[in-house]
Amino acid sequence: MDILVTGASGLIGSALVPRLTAEGHHVIELRRDRGTTPASQATWNPDAGQIDLSRCGPVDAVVHLAGENVAQRWTPKAKARIRDSRVNGTHLLCEALTKLAQPPKTLVGASATGFYGHRGEEALDEQSAPGSGFLAEVCREWEAALASAAEQGVRVVHLRLGLVLAAQGGALAKMLTPFRLGLGGSLGSGRQYWSWITLEDLLAVVLFAMRTETLSGPVNAVAPGTVTNREFTKTLGRVLRRPAILPVPGFALRLLFGEMADGALLASARVKPAKLEASGFVFRFPELEPALRSLLKTR
Ligand SMILES: NC(=O)c1ccc[n+]([C@@H]2O[C@H](COP(=O)([O-])OP(=O)(O)OC[C@H]3O[C@@H](n4cnc5c(N)ncnc54)[C@H](OP(=O)(O)O)[C@@H]3O)[C@@H](O)[C@H]2O)c1
Repeated sequence: MDILVTGASGLIGSALVPRLTAEGHHVIELRRDRGTTPASQATWNPDAGQIDLSRCGPVDAVVHLAGENVAQRWTPKAKARIRDSRVNGTHLLCEALTKLAQPPKTLVGASATGFYGHRGEEALDEQSAPGSGFLAEVCREWEAALASAAEQGVRVVHLRLGLVLAAQGGALAKMLTPFRLGLGGSLGSGRQYWSWITLEDLLAVVLFAMRTETLSGPVNAVAPGTVTNREFTKTLGRVLRRPAILPVPGFALRLLFGEMADGALLASARVKPAKLEASGFVFRFPELEPALRSLLKTR
């Protein structure tokens, strides 16, 4: 297949592109133009509302990952970038895709378990109502922005991603230094549920979503073995053979990260991969400890 990928330089995109290529697909990366992109490559500038797909040839499927990184202090300007890059960028992309002589058949778009907001111990599946708060609102708008593609007959899958675990980047890589120094600990009460997925399983989910024609709409991309932050902390400490007994109080996180502390780190979302399991997807890493041992190459 000819597959267009946005956000190709990110944590997920940079692992996905070689995986798609290895599976025999032709990948077209839609990167933001920084003046260094060869003229033969498709580019876009979501901030300026510019996109040029004229050179990308036929597109069978799209994987849309682009968006301003969420893991930063949520100042008003950062919040605007986080929202606009997703909502405006997705509108722009869909408009251009539906104008192609032959629009793609499938679009797999990233969303996040942040869609569900802070929900305590409630078990959440794709039927659950959206939550409230900044991230939930962004996810709702982000998913809604793909509606124009769905209306044109494109099969749209919204992958509601949990925390993506990879040794080379993202949240886990950031946690490793303090944990290795024995300075790890739970965040706030530690009772908040963290839904996670390994990068390897996520790549398999993306491929599964592209080829499973019965799958559409929201799909929770999380491992079945959801844990609380305290369980996550204890497991990571055990895997690294380091103590993880220094909790970080909520107020310190709020001082450091502002609204992002309550909106992401301390928010509880116990999300189940109901649709993936019902469709027969098999996780390589359904449980956290084997996942971390494999990622961190410990026994
Ligand atoms: N990693 C996670 O744990 C996780 C969890 C839940 C949801 N997600 C979502 O999944 C998607 C991919 O995640 P990721 O971890 O690969 O993200 P990432 O590493 O932050 O990469 C996102 C990519 O989006 C593009 N981008 C960055 N800022 C942008 C902006 N202001 N406007 C438009 N494009 C921008 C960049 O690609 P180019 O420079 O090539 O354009 C960047 O490499 C994101 O939308 C993220 O919110 C990720």
